[in-house]
Amino acid sequence: MSLLALSNISVRYGRLTAVRGVTFTLAEGEILFITGPNGAGKSSLLRAIAGVTPPAGGRIDFADHDITGRAPEDIARLGLSMVPEGRDVFGSLTIEENLMVGTGMHSGTRGWRARAASELEAVYATFPILKERRHSQAGLLSGGQQQMLVIGRALMTTPRLVAIDEPSLGLAPNITDQVYERLIALRAERKLTLLIVEQSSTRAMMVGGRMMLMRGGEIVLDGDARALGQSEAMQAAYFGYGEH
Ligand SMILES: Nc1ncnc2c1ncn2[C@@H]1O[C@H](COP(=O)(O)OP(=O)(O)OP(=O)(O)O)[C@@H](O)[C@H]1O
Ligand SMILES: [Mg+2]
Repeated sequence: MSLLALSNISVRYGRLTAVRGVTFTLAEGEILFITGPNGAGKSSLLRAIAGVTPPAGGRIDFADHDITGRAPEDIARLGLSMVPEGRDVFGSLTIEENLMVGTGMHSGTRGWRARAASELEAVYATFPILKERRHSQAGLLSGGQQQMLVIGRALMTTPRLVAIDEPSLGLAPNITDQVYERLIALRAERKLTLLIVEQSSTRAMMVGGRMMLMRGGEIVLDGDARALGQSEAMQAAYFGYGEH
């Protein structure tokens, strides 16, 4: 039984087709890297899954619900959290306030306050630096800490799947190591399913799991991350050798 299933998904911006006919399923607990060059359609695909940019065609099922065209809040409520590109923190709010923002959608439901408090402790256990600095302004954090904060915020709703767009962007390799270390631990602790977008296949090869290569809006390769990463097919497809 798959947690996420995409069937023939396309995304358009006016006359431009950014994602064309993408189909795949993701099982609970799986880790999937979507890699591919600049402009391949990776972010567009992620935004379509999270409901931010509704798909122009196709169908998306998540946790036994047809979520095609549903509002991002509804999709998040079902347990799908997205961390968009660019580490969008509320700079003038404290770390703790930033984390609590994510729980707002549950306010009014029974016991949300207690749940939020226990999620907050869980996020702090995963990222102790956030607890240490919980009353500091988020705008004062380093890039790596901000990345931890946005991932922490996505965890506040107790998701089953977290989709993250380029977590390593602009981070030093050792900071990226730390972020990935936590993600892998979370996956083991919570059976969390991860869908991670990265331009390069380097991380996917280090972490392992499943990898897809996207190019021109399509999935052109799909397989074991380490095996694919070393294959000539990957190199050729990534750089488009043999085309035109
Ligand atoms: N909001 C938008 N309006 C119009 N065109 C867009 C928009 N967002 C993306 N595009 C276009 O859609 C195509 C796919 O872009 P997208 O951002 O999804 O690619 P990407 O694989 O995430 O690239 P990158 O690795 O640079 O982040 C590109 O041609 C891009 O210019
Ligand atoms: Mg992108």
